[in-house]
Amino acid sequence: MNLVKTSDTQSTTRLLARIAELKRQKKAVILAHYYTRPEVQSAADFLGDSLALAVRAQTIDAEIILFAGVHFMAETAKVLCPSKKVLIPCPEAGCSLAESCNAAAFAAFKARYPDHKVVSYVNTTVGVKALTDICCTSSNALKVVQSIPADQPLIFGPDRNLGSYIQKLTGRKNMVLWDGACHVHEEFSLEKLLELKQKHPKAKVVAHPECRAYILDVADFVGSTAAILDYCGDTDSTEFIVVTEAGILAEMQRRFPDKKFIPAPPDDETCGCNNCRFMKMVTLENIVACLENEAPEIILDEQTRLKAERSILNMIQIK
Ligand code: 13P
Repeated sequence: MNLVKTSDTQSTTRLLARIAELKRQKKAVILAHYYTRPEVQSAADFLGDSLALAVRAQTIDAEIILFAGVHFMAETAKVLCPSKKVLIPCPEAGCSLAESCNAAAFAAFKARYPDHKVVSYVNTTVGVKALTDICCTSSNALKVVQSIPADQPLIFGPDRNLGSYIQKLTGRKNMVLWDGACHVHEEFSLEKLLELKQKHPKAKVVAHPECRAYILDVADFVGSTAAILDYCGDTDSTEFIVVTEAGILAEMQRRFPDKKFIPAPPDDETCGCNNCRFMKMVTLENIVACLENEAPEIILDEQTRLKAERSILNMIQIK
């Protein structure tokens, strides 16, 4: 993928200054995910993984939340903050996981398993969250599943890789998985990862649980974006092979400037698939336009929102 910088240094400074001015004028706060462009991350008031961003949205003291991330993340913020204006600079920024699971198809799937409780990854639309008993993120999926009695059968969706990983950790047999996957995490090449490990024998391999099982099997650490960052800080190792979306490298370098981070390559290195094309659709330019126009805005049907809220709050209360 062509990851051309949105702007040169001068226009970046100008756009960041304009964003700061608009945030002040409109009492707006920007939440951004680690996978967004580095310059977008630097415009954020709060940068985090999907769990931290959902929790933070609940306590924000601002009239406007601009969500620099993909559509389901902004929807989650709106579900939790119905009285706030939640803006999304690029509503076309979707998520292959959320798109793999449409609410009507998920409802039909659920109807086949009437005794099952539904656990859904937050990478879902509000319609799927409304059909869910309890949401999870990659940070808390294990705790969420462990909070449900072992003899209770479960539907887990939509990420089959995260689902299989949790099944392996818990030994739980009674989990039916929806067949979805993230287009970024599915693409990492085992062969190229093993070559990199040989070239950098001291490097620790850190991987996101959305990767395929054969990648997770050779990782030294598996965790959400936030957990990976913590691990890189906590261990004495100074070199890491990073098997997740490459946007996280900006925060890694910022936090640990003396450590070395090597992005793992996708199977086809010319495709740039370890960059999420949806996250990279958020730019400083569309943030400025979005704050100026106070649009596009997330608007939800209230009945659906209330049902989705229950499944997200069920997740947040699990400590
Ligand atoms: P995190 O829960 O690590 O933020 O992951 C979000 C995501 O969308 C990964 O593809």
